[in-house]
Amino acid sequence: MKTVTVSLGERSYPIHIETGLLTIAGDLLAPLLQGRRVAIVTDSNVLPHLATLQAALAEEDIASEAIVLAPGEATKSWGVLETLCDRLLELGIERGDHVIALGGGVIGDLVGFACAILKRGCRFVQIPTTLLAQVDSSVGGKTAINTRAGKNLIGAFHQPVMVLIDPAVLDTLPPRELRAGYAEIVKYGLIDDAPFFAWCEANGAALLAGDEDLRERAIAHSVAAKARIVAADEHETNGTRALLNLGHTFGHALEAEAGFDGTLIHGEGVAAGCALAFAFSAAQGLCTDADAARVAAHMREVGLPDGLAATGIAASGARLVDHMRHDKKMDAGTLPFLLARGIGGTVLDRGVDLTDVATFLDAQPR
Ligand code: GLY
Repeated sequence: MKTVTVSLGERSYPIHIETGLLTIAGDLLAPLLQGRRVAIVTDSNVLPHLATLQAALAEEDIASEAIVLAPGEATKSWGVLETLCDRLLELGIERGDHVIALGGGVIGDLVGFACAILKRGCRFVQIPTTLLAQVDSSVGGKTAINTRAGKNLIGAFHQPVMVLIDPAVLDTLPPRELRAGYAEIVKYGLIDDAPFFAWCEANGAALLAGDEDLRERAIAHSVAAKARIVAADEHETNGTRALLNLGHTFGHALEAEAGFDGTLIHGEGVAAGCALAFAFSAAQGLCTDADAARVAAHMREVGLPDGLAATGIAASGARLVDHMRHDKKMDAGTLPFLLARGIGGTVLDRGVDLTDVATFLDAQPR
């Protein structure tokens, strides 16, 4: 078993990674859960894993209550948050009890937020069941729901007490979801780890084809990178954690233009966004055209969008930039932008002129 620690003083927690971990989750959770109430919140797509987890807990004589929500982004809403909090209160969950979030990013974000506000904060464990949640959203304590005004606009930082990652659950994940999660893995290489990007170029295709060892190594490497960044800037105040948004400004604009209707899923937006961030950086003379071409080539090779044309989005640069102006990262009229001085050389630039971005996007092939 690989273990990575998120070092946050008294809120530090371990992330355990091992294929088949769900079947022995009782062992790892028993010291936390003994004698206390346990609620597991999941969605109806995850029921087979719920059965595995409840059986693993039962082996340690730990009884659990399951709350099964509807799958999909619409579950991250005020309405479902209220229902979930009422249910957890009915179950008598106390501050020292644990709620387990078993699912993808939607479940993790919603349950994390419910636990941030329930009795001013109760404990929770993340057991992510998608690659995207395993390498990104389950680690670092960002929790949120969506509102009419946009995604993730209401939320809190609330760290889990443990994260359990079982790559075996990925066997049943649709290939498109797997590829989308892989985009976030590549992102760690692009941010500050050129050798890891080269590792992805060499191993990405085999990893996506299901190689267990490669999958486990990539997940462990990614969560270690995320743990380092979160430890350096838990609340995204000193510019370090913002590096994790590489590809996300372009990506969110593309997702918003696509209408968040499943035609372009988050990781696909991030893949296209990373390729565009590098192409824009090359156009600004920050990195070489060869670096930008390498990023696009790897996305293409693994079946991810490698730029604007591959997303099928034909909107003008001005329209896409308009989506960026509504980004929650807008700060006093400027948008902190992630650019690259090269592969592994991502930098935060607060001086990017959005009209230059619009002109660049208009010049992209459609
Ligand atoms: N997913 C970006 C972050 O956790 O900061």
